[in-house]
Amino acid sequence: MHDLKTLRLERLREEHIPAILQIEKVANGAPWSERSFRNELSHPHGVFFTALLEGKVVGYGGVWLLVDEAHITTVAVEETLRRNGIGRRIMLDLLKAAKERGMTCSTLEVRAGNVGAIKLYEGLGYAVTATRKGYYPDNKEDAVVMWMYELDKWEPPIR
Ligand SMILES: CC(C)(COP(=O)(O)OP(=O)(O)OC[C@H]1O[C@@H](n2cnc3c(N)ncnc32)[C@H](O)[C@@H]1OP(=O)(O)O)[C@@H](O)C(=O)NCCC(=O)NCCS
Repeated sequence: MHDLKTLRLERLREEHIPAILQIEKVANGAPWSERSFRNELSHPHGVFFTALLEGKVVGYGGVWLLVDEAHITTVAVEETLRRNGIGRRIMLDLLKAAKERGMTCSTLEVRAGNVGAIKLYEGLGYAVTATRKGYYPDNKEDAVVMWMYELDKWEPPIR
């Protein structure tokens, strides 16, 4: 278990992107391009956080705020540092940021086989509401759609 006392979350900055791309290659079967991350630097409806441990980029996650809905766009943690609570912390900060900005619900899609991520989201208050057959183009995997209603009343779950 790593000591997360020095974990910091910052809004995405240009200098984080090279390290994010390295993590993304490993974390995502259909990796985002450099351009996609760059778009998050100035996305009018986006909040994107980089997680830094002792100054090193170890994870990231983003949300789009669409009217009243917080759509989680991505979350990933450097492979060797998983299961230390970093992904959960990124999600908590994204949800807090969305709630502060007046969002009342949150949704995301996740690969049906991504049991760990589904468990993480369920632990935060999301529930599976639907499946999209063959949603992911790289391997035709189904997507599970998850929703959290009443984000306006949501509080970070106590562990
Ligand atoms: C999903 C991901 C972001 C989770 O990050 P993480 O830092 O490892 O997650 P955390 O340590 O905060 O986990 C919090 C809880 O989520 C659940 N969880 C996370 N990963 C899990 C796994 N592989 N298996 C089972 N449960 C898991 C557990 O309940 C865990 O609590 P615990 O460790 O006390 O049991 C990380 O595995 C990752 O980067 N995966 C690749 C990218 C990805 O799949 N992103 C999601 C796309 S929708």
